[in-house]
Amino acid sequence: MVAAGPSHVKIVILQTAESKGIVATCYRSLVGAPLPLRGLTFSVAGPGRVGASLAAWLEARGARRIAAAGREGLPELSTAGQDLLLVAVPDPVLPAVAAELARHPQAAVVLHTSGNLDAGALAPLRATGSAIGTLHPLKAFPHPLPDPEQASGVFFAVDGDPPARDLAFRLAAAWGAEAALVPASARSLYHFAATLAAGGVVTLLAAAEEIAERLGLPPAVTRGYLELCRGAVAGATEAHREGRPLGSALTGPVARGDRETMQRHLAILRELMPEKLPLTIALARETLHQRERGSGLEPGHREVLEELDEHGRARTSTDD
Ligand SMILES: NC(=O)c1ccc[n+]([C@@H]2O[C@H](COP(=O)([O-])OP(=O)(O)OC[C@H]3O[C@@H](n4cnc5c(N)ncnc54)[C@H](OP(=O)(O)O)[C@@H]3O)[C@@H](O)[C@H]2O)c1
Repeated sequence: MVAAGPSHVKIVILQTAESKGIVATCYRSLVGAPLPLRGLTFSVAGPGRVGASLAAWLEARGARRIAAAGREGLPELSTAGQDLLLVAVPDPVLPAVAAELARHPQAAVVLHTSGNLDAGALAPLRATGSAIGTLHPLKAFPHPLPDPEQASGVFFAVDGDPPARDLAFRLAAAWGAEAALVPASARSLYHFAATLAAGGVVTLLAAAEEIAERLGLPPAVTRGYLELCRGAVAGATEAHREGRPLGSALTGPVARGDRETMQRHLAILRELMPEKLPLTIALARETLHQRERGSGLEPGHREVLEELDEHGRARTSTDD
C-alpha cells in the first residue's frame, strides 16, 4: 500500500503478517490492553507458582490486588467486601486452610485452583457467607508465569456455587482462555486424565530415550523421537479440530495392524529388555482400543490382538 505524503516522500506500508503483529503490539502499548476486570478487587491465599501467576494475570486485565498471604499472613487474612479470594495452596493443606480462613468473613467468591479436589474443600467458607468454587488451570507452572499471554488458550476447569462459577467463567474469558464445567463427580478422573496427557506422554518419551541410550545411540536419536512426538501431537490436534476422535490419528505398527512387526518387537524385547514387555503389551491393547473408537478395527488389528493373547498365554505357562 502507498500512502500520500509530501510530494517528494512516499510512505510504503508493507502488509506482512509480521508488520501486522508489530502494529497490534504498538496499538496495545499506545491504547493499553483491554481491561475487562477493571473494578474487581481480589486477594490471594498462597502466592506460590499458581497464586502469583493468576494474581498477575488478574492485574493485567484490570483487577486490583488488595492482599496476598502465605503461611505467615494467613491467620490475619480478612477479605470481606472484596469480590474474590483466590486460594492456591497445596492440596493436602487446602481443607485446613479453608477452616482457618473461615475464622474471618471473606470475599463474596472464594475459588481454589486444585484439579483433584472439588469445591467442597472450601465448605467452611460457604458457611460464613462466601460462594465457593474452583478454577483449575490445566497447565504446568514449574515457576510463577506472570505474563498474561501465558493464559491465552489454557483450559480452566470450573465448578461450584452459581456466583462462583459465573466469576470463574468471567475470569477465563478475560484471559482469552477456555473454560468448562467439571463437576465434583468427574474431578478425580479428569485430573488423572490430565496426568496421562502431560506426565504420561513424557514418561513414554523418557522410555524411548532410555532404549536409545541402552543401545548406545547418540542424543540426536532422542531429538528425533521428540520431533516425531510433535508431529504425532499435531496430527491428533488436527483430528480434534476436524471433529474426529484422537484415535483416528494413531500411527505405528499396532495401529496399522502389522502383526509381523509387532512379533519382531516382542521377540527383541523378550531377549534384551523383558522389563519393558508389560508396558508394551498394555500400550498395544490400549492402542487397539483407541483405534476401534477412532476408525474401527480391520482384520490386521484382530491378528495383532491374537498375537498379544498368544504372548499372554505363553507368559502364563512359563510362570506356571
Ligand atoms: N504447580 C502447578 O503446575 C499447578 C498446576 C495447576 C494447579 N495447581 C494447583 O494449585 C495449587 C497451588 O499449587 P502451587 O504449585 O502454586 O504451590 P506452591 O508453588 O508450592 O505454592 C503454595 C503456596 O501455598 C502456601 N502454603 C503452603 N502451605 C500452606 C499452609 N499450610 N497454610 C497456608 N499457606 C500455605 C505457600 O506459602 P508460602 O508463600 O509461605 O510458602 C505458597 O504461597 C495446588 O492446589 C495445586 O494442585 C498447581
